[in-house]
Amino acid sequence: MISSKIKESLKNSSVIRKMFEEGNRLSKMFGPENVFDFSLGNPDMPPPQSIIDGIIQYAGQKGVHRYMPNAGFLDVRQMIAEKISSRGKTLSANNLIMTVGAAGGLNVCLKSLLDPDDEVIVLAPYFVEYNFYITNHGGIPVVVETEDDFSLDIEKIYGAITEKTKAIIINSPNNPTGIVYSKEALEELANALYERQNALQTDICILSDEPYQEIVYDVEVPNLLNIYDNTIIINSYSKSLSLPGARLGYIAVNPDITDVRDVINALILTNRILGFVNAPAIYQKALLGALDTTVDIKGYKKRRDALYDILIQAGFKTQKPQGAFYFFVECPIKDDKEFVAKAATHNLLFAPGSGFGRSGYFRICYCVSLNKINRSKDAFIELGKEYQLI
Ligand SMILES: Cc1ncc(COP(=O)(O)O)c(C=O)c1O
Repeated sequence: MISSKIKESLKNSSVIRKMFEEGNRLSKMFGPENVFDFSLGNPDMPPPQSIIDGIIQYAGQKGVHRYMPNAGFLDVRQMIAEKISSRGKTLSANNLIMTVGAAGGLNVCLKSLLDPDDEVIVLAPYFVEYNFYITNHGGIPVVVETEDDFSLDIEKIYGAITEKTKAIIINSPNNPTGIVYSKEALEELANALYERQNALQTDICILSDEPYQEIVYDVEVPNLLNIYDNTIIINSYSKSLSLPGARLGYIAVNPDITDVRDVINALILTNRILGFVNAPAIYQKALLGALDTTVDIKGYKKRRDALYDILIQAGFKTQKPQGAFYFFVECPIKDDKEFVAKAATHNLLFAPGSGFGRSGYFRICYCVSLNKINRSKDAFIELGKEYQLI
């Protein structure tokens, strides 16, 4: 009955589903408090009170549930544009489109940009849904490896660009590595893209997927709008306000992008024709009183520091992430799926790196309480001993 394309996709999406099922199975056997599920990026922190107050306030407001402009409420877009403008490039409400999360925003962008067989560069390891989003709209994902420390390999990116390259997806802070690209690295990338665009007489867009932009530790995320003209930012409140179920995000278009009016009109139209129509009304309005708040970032930092100490003590090799809530850790054996299965026997659930396009690693998500992280230490130590890491 189902299409062959979706049949294929179902096969590829089974890794995360398996981890989910494994978590449920172990929780039933040992009790949820004894299963250390680091596999899913599902924020556990409560949303700030100001957004809850806004949701309650606006739910009863007359007119708020009606159809609205497909780009979203003007007052909300205005406030977000002001906030973004405080980081450099000046944007107006017209440069903003409210979306159904970053996932909706990315689909809207790709639908607007891609002709059949256009290529989109993704940088491994990467958020695996990108493959689905790109092929949804007839595009071809072109995977380019990052360096061993997950920084940008500009030469490889340069070499992967063809006359069919329409976009490159940048994700910083990064899922799964937690890396934040420096301003210098992004400037180098911009120079390479400008050079290739000029040589090929094409436009190459940076789609900057930034749902973790506010979740950073002692660093700032450089504003790509200040660095590269053909930039579209995709952001979301799933992580910064712990609202993944609300499905709220936005697209911000650089005013200096090629054919700016056409691009914005296309994004508004595709938001409509993909069936999103507009982002959820109450959540949009609730943002008006909550734009200067975030979840407890210091709390995430404490978790990161605690987990880092545990990982090092257990003998694992990893970088200390600068943002997001993930560690991407070297597996002690080549086969990351086998390693993840072995870790599950210690009640530790991880996602294998091959699910993110880089095998030999595993991803830890710390959407898990500090108390539980501390209680997981013995299991990590046992796992480290099993592989003679300590
Ligand atoms: C890198 C990245 N992009 C996009 C998304 C989708 O986020 P949203 O919930 O805003 O659709 C996620 C969610 O985990 C993500 O990790």
